[in-house]
Amino acid sequence: MGRTVLLTGGAGFIGSHTAVQMIEAGYEVVIADDLSNSERSVVERIGEITGTIPIFYECDVAHKASLEQIFREHKIDGVVHFAGFKAVGESVEKPLAYYRNNLDTTLTLLETMGEHGVHDFVFSSSATVYGMSEDVPFTEEQPTGGCTNPYGWTKYMIEQILRDAAAADPALSVVLLRYFNPIGAHESGLIGEKPNGIPNNLMPYITQVAQGIREQLSVFGNDYPTHDGTGVRDYIHVVDLADGHVAALRYAAEHKGCEVFNLGTGNGYSVLDLVEAFREVNHVDVPYEIAPRRAGDIATCYADTQKAESVLGWKASRGVEEMCRDAWNWQKNQ
Ligand code: UD1
Repeated sequence: MGRTVLLTGGAGFIGSHTAVQMIEAGYEVVIADDLSNSERSVVERIGEITGTIPIFYECDVAHKASLEQIFREHKIDGVVHFAGFKAVGESVEKPLAYYRNNLDTTLTLLETMGEHGVHDFVFSSSATVYGMSEDVPFTEEQPTGGCTNPYGWTKYMIEQILRDAAAADPALSVVLLRYFNPIGAHESGLIGEKPNGIPNNLMPYITQVAQGIREQLSVFGNDYPTHDGTGVRDYIHVVDLADGHVAALRYAAEHKGCEVFNLGTGNGYSVLDLVEAFREVNHVDVPYEIAPRRAGDIATCYADTQKAESVLGWKASRGVEEMCRDAWNWQKNQ
């Protein structure tokens, strides 16, 4: 108890939900976020939900002097690193910006941690590191690589950097978390996902169509080898995912070296399954059309969740109905 965690990118979608769960688990939370894809008001909202406003620094995590200040002013026990660019399409157009930002923030953070004797590090990775593999369910042991875009490669490269850093420094404790498809929002409706412009991901697109902001959903392909021909993914409630970070940080505090865990539910839902569930739970229509496949998509992706369950003692508990309900509850508040 009384431990302090630094959340980089802690005002973002996954970061803000993790801040809530960390505070509720008894951590003191310090957030560093440059607000490039988030808003200052999120910090107050975290306070509204938990009764404790996290300490907030508006700064770029790649800026050494800013990080230095945070580590000087607070005794940080562990770091969860969310800060990074994450738009797949944009990463294809601006690869250098993605490599520069995502790698730089990580390196600066690791160096600063080293200088201040901070050893526990949890990294926001992605199932995207499994590339085009169709060998489901994905286990942590299966090979990674073959990513389809620079965003994915940054996750892959950062995982490698962290493995090397942990191998060289016996004091370091690294946990790599490979997220499947986080959706939903906090049940309060106070925090959630706020995409910039036209959403790339499925759930934010569905909620915007349901609200009438967009005319209809384009379902990218219905000729995949799945039960209804549309892509199958492992959707996980963002609050379950956030709890996974609390478990991972505890694990990091008790172990050394580098461990990797999938964070998913182990269940696959197709695009049309999700649309149907959303309609049923929320009693709202989601018009859609079938469109061509999207480049870089695979048919089926879901997690083997055994390792997280047995080693971290963590398991997702919220079903797809709650994901749809909470995503809609959040969108309606916008
Ligand atoms: C994508 C990224 C992944 C990233 C994750 C972040 C790719 C190839 N992968 O995962 O690297 O970590 O987002 O959340 O981009 N779909 C539609 N219509 C839409 C949007 C999506 O039919 O308007 C379908 C997709 O084809 C896919 C499913 O919905 O079958 C989920 O798509 P999405 O939410 O974008 O996530 P992923 O592609 O799985």
